[in-house]
Amino acid sequence: MMNSLMLLLKRESKLTVNAVKVPVIAAGGIGDARGFVAALALGAEGVIMGTRFMATLECPAHPKFKEWLLQAKETDTVLVERSIRNTARALRNKAAEKVLEMEARGATLEELLTVISGENYKRVFLNGELDAGIASCGQVVGLIYDLPTVKEVIDTIITEARAITQRFLSSFR
Ligand SMILES: Cc1cc2nc3c(=O)[nH]c(=O)nc-3n(C[C@H](O)[C@H](O)[C@H](O)COP(=O)(O)O)c2cc1C
Repeated sequence: MMNSLMLLLKRESKLTVNAVKVPVIAAGGIGDARGFVAALALGAEGVIMGTRFMATLECPAHPKFKEWLLQAKETDTVLVERSIRNTARALRNKAAEKVLEMEARGATLEELLTVISGENYKRVFLNGELDAGIASCGQVVGLIYDLPTVKEVIDTIITEARAITQRFLSSFR
C-alpha cells in the first residue's frame, strides 16, 4: 500500500509501478471519482480509502464527529507522533496541539500515551468529545461535504469515473 503521490516517486531510477511486479494499491487523498481515476492513470490497480468512509451513515462515529468532518478543510489536519516514528495525520484539536507541544520538548512515549491512547481516541470517535484525543484523518477531508451510505459513495465514484473516462476517450478520438 502506498500514498497516491508515491506512485510517481522513483525507486531505483524507475517509477514504482514500473519497478515492482506486484499490483500497486494507492492510498491517501482519494475520496471521489477524480482521485480514483487519477490513481489508476498513475498506474495503480486499485485504491484504499479511509477518511471518506468515516463520513458515511454506517460509520459508528458520534454525530458530532461526523459534523466535524463535514466542516473541516484540508488545512485542518496536522502530523503527530513523528517523534516516536509513528507519524499519523490527525484533525487539529486540543489533543493534537498538546501532542505537538509535547513532542517539541522531547516528551517520552509514556508521557505521550496520556494523550494518544486508544481510549482517548474512542472518546473522540464514539462519544463526540472532540478534544479528548487524537483523531486520524486525511487531507481529503476538505473534499467531503455529505454523509451518504457506503453504497452511495462507491456507486457515485464508479458512475462519475465512467463519465470522466468517457470524456477522456472522446478527446483522444
Ligand atoms: C480512522 C483511521 C484510522 C487509521 N489508522 C491507521 C493505522 O492504525 N495504521 C495505519 O498504517 N494507517 C491508518 N490509517 C490510514 C489508512 O490505513 C489509510 O492509509 C488512509 O486512511 C488512506 O488515506 P485517506 O484517509 O486519505 O483515504 C487510518 C486512517 C483512518 C481514517
